[in-house]
Amino acid sequence: MEGTMDIDELRALQLDRLRWTLRHAYDNVPAHRRRFDAAGVHPDDCRTLDDLALFPFTTKDDLRAAYPYGTLAVPHDQVRRFHASSGTTGQPTVVGHTARDLDVWADLVARSIRAAGGRPGDKVHVAYGYGLFTGGLGAHYGAERLGCAVIPASGGQSARQVRLIHDLRPDVVMVTPSYMLALVDEFERQGLDPRASSLRVGIFGAEPWTEGMRREIEERLDLDAVDIYGLSEIMGPGVAQEFATTKDGLHVWEDHFLPEIVDPVTGAPLPDGEDGELVLTTLTREAAPMVRYRTRDLTRLMPGTADPRFRRIRRITGRDDDMIILRGVNVFPTQVEEAVLGVPGLAPHFQLHLTRPGRLDEMTVRVEARPDAAGHVRLAAAERLVRELKDGVGVSVSAQVVDPGTLERSAGKLRRVIDDR
Ligand code: DLL
Repeated sequence: MEGTMDIDELRALQLDRLRWTLRHAYDNVPAHRRRFDAAGVHPDDCRTLDDLALFPFTTKDDLRAAYPYGTLAVPHDQVRRFHASSGTTGQPTVVGHTARDLDVWADLVARSIRAAGGRPGDKVHVAYGYGLFTGGLGAHYGAERLGCAVIPASGGQSARQVRLIHDLRPDVVMVTPSYMLALVDEFERQGLDPRASSLRVGIFGAEPWTEGMRREIEERLDLDAVDIYGLSEIMGPGVAQEFATTKDGLHVWEDHFLPEIVDPVTGAPLPDGEDGELVLTTLTREAAPMVRYRTRDLTRLMPGTADPRFRRIRRITGRDDDMIILRGVNVFPTQVEEAVLGVPGLAPHFQLHLTRPGRLDEMTVRVEARPDAAGHVRLAAAERLVRELKDGVGVSVSAQVVDPGTLERSAGKLRRVIDDR
């Protein structure tokens, strides 16, 4: 966005773009029109930004019902690319992009990489998966747009990834935080010092991660680790980005997306500063405009810092559908991650196994020992983890410390929870 625009100009631009989006969705997408009509609202009812709250939400189920082309607001010959969500939690959703949508997306990822500390002329190693997933191609075109040289490694083949990083000397890496950790282990397996690598900036997202994980990755790789957020229904990576200069949550690129926070149960709008579910409305998307999309991602809105025009979201603690309810206590995998990283002798590789041996649910945290942790250290670590989760989160679990390298690694988004109930 033009560096000279102030907050009043931004709000005016958002209102113009919001009114355009509502009209575009209503006129060209029958499912949006039906939802607006059912709620008794018309695009002309939007006179201020607050009027958005009059309009109905769009849910993941609405998008599933629209599979494959029911979200398109443009003729098929205007679409230049399709992406799809992974569909691990049900039917996939397909999202189209026009040439202009792809152009805006590249601009926003370029802006994100710059905020992360990347510069034109840098080499960017992209280890997000290429394909229907938006991570690889989204990062790729953004890095090119900024004037970087891309190494399109995609996910997997860890030995080759490490070799490429060692030989081609990239400045920036874009990858899921869990796969970054697997690559750090692979550096060590090859006898290479990860801290001596050329990497200066790591741009990590597509899954929840914690401050403890940031410290772990920064310490082991000697780089700045920052958070990038996005989702395929809204665009892909680059909806919000953390600045390397502040590392205090992610600035939402509000000239293209309007964020709201709502109560995840009632859907009632919540004021800035309160925790709830992130709801996003696109402001410039042509192929698949989204109105009040319920992301299921839990966070809060805060004032901007590094760029005061744009509000920030706090790092996403999880999705409301990753929340585990264990005998009435809510627990997120990120809370376990934070606890694991605080216990000496434990590596940040863990899985949560849910079982129901009798009438009650039980959870076992299976976690790897650090390579240098002796038998008595492992025992003490298991006890301490159980105690911290009991005292800090209020949940009773058992812990099993396993040998380094024995838990499954993932080359993309990691699945932490194994549900055998
Ligand atoms: O994961 C887009 C992306 C690619 C973002 C690469 C960042 C980097 P989806 O596959 O549609 O798109 O999954 C979107 O992933 O609703 C969140 O639940 C989760 N997610 C994405 N970024 C973060 C993050 C991509 N930084 C879903 N922190 C979202 C926590 C994240 N969760």
